[in-house]
Amino acid sequence: MNLQELEIQFSNFLQADLDLDLTRGKPCSEQLDLSNGLDGILKENYTLEDGGDARNYGGLLGIPEARRLGAEILNLESAQVMAAGNSSLTLMFHYVSSMMPVWRIEQQQTNTPIKFLCPVPGYDRHFKICQHLGIQMLPVRLLESGPDMNEIAQLIKADPMIKGIWCVPKYSNPTGLTYAATTVARFAELASHSGDHFRIFWDNAYAIHDLVEQGSKLDNLMLLAEDKSNQDSVLMIASTSKVTFAGAGMAFLGSSTNNLERFEDYLSSQTIGYDKVNQLRHARFFQDPGSLDRHMIKHRKILSPKFALVEHKLLQLRELNVINWTRPMGGYFVSVDTQPGLAQETISLAAQAGVKLTPAGATYPLGIDPEDRNIRIAPTFPDIIELEQALDVLVCCLQLALARSQQ
Ligand SMILES: Cc1ncc(COP(=O)(O)O)c(C=O)c1O
Repeated sequence: MNLQELEIQFSNFLQADLDLDLTRGKPCSEQLDLSNGLDGILKENYTLEDGGDARNYGGLLGIPEARRLGAEILNLESAQVMAAGNSSLTLMFHYVSSMMPVWRIEQQQTNTPIKFLCPVPGYDRHFKICQHLGIQMLPVRLLESGPDMNEIAQLIKADPMIKGIWCVPKYSNPTGLTYAATTVARFAELASHSGDHFRIFWDNAYAIHDLVEQGSKLDNLMLLAEDKSNQDSVLMIASTSKVTFAGAGMAFLGSSTNNLERFEDYLSSQTIGYDKVNQLRHARFFQDPGSLDRHMIKHRKILSPKFALVEHKLLQLRELNVINWTRPMGGYFVSVDTQPGLAQETISLAAQAGVKLTPAGATYPLGIDPEDRNIRIAPTFPDIIELEQALDVLVCCLQLALARSQQ
């Protein structure tokens, strides 16, 4: 389409009075319905497998059956996993907070700020934790194989105040990328080159969220790190937010028993324990062997047509040669790169036409995409008809922003 045709199409969208939202990676109600069986599943039987009572206080590391479920998702031993409340983001926030006093001592001694490495584009709320706690963020390029490990090694060698790195190693938010085995192996060695207090936040939020039958495989960082005696640097994180109920699921933190003990002590000043009744509901819901896999296949069947539609619509842009996008095999997002300088303009055009997109820059620390080119699409929540309308608007806006810039 030429500029004039695009302007006409755009003004038609303006008149259509749309109100559509592609901003956040939320499950749709059909997905949430898959877990309605949680409700009432306990039938007044609150007795845990260790004889405890789920309704009472205690058990900060979680009930045994929930820790086992977390271990299944994270590929760890139950003793290495804590089961907590409904949000893994909260766990990450608290873990970073728990390390701040240790890191601050080093900050005072060296007069150098605490820093985290942030592979970009990445998850905005990871960056927000750093921003909130006054941690400086150093962006690191994401390659096809995962973060640029040569760059990371150099940065860590040069600056001992780099204390952490955010990773979404499988079906990354927003690119959908899974880290290659060579990348994971290098992560296992990282702590050998940093101080004792360096932490890898291995946020495996999409560990079991395949969109295709044969999903991608991620190597087990913990096993590799244990081989190098670096297990204390590894924090594996997951939740059932996109498995059962996004707002009423269960989060997991996997790490060395050393780390878990220290973290348990930190948490004990703010809670006596998490919601064990909900933990038990989840454990019973997934107690049959293979039930978790079967459940995730049901999610896949709902989501894969939505991602196929995104690909189908974006294919219209193929001939422009300046707009690239990812084709994820799992997870919740598609990441689009426009020609530099056009992300904000595209998102603002879409907003005028009634389609909300994640703000430009959100996938970068401090909300600043230096090239202003990344747009994150979250296709899971709308129904397929709304998604199709929203994508038509987006495709028009991407083309229009480009055509106007070429005038
Ligand atoms: C990478 C990543 N981590 C964590 C979360 C939040 O998870 P939770 O609901 O367990 O706090 C999300 C949600 O979108 C995410 O994309």
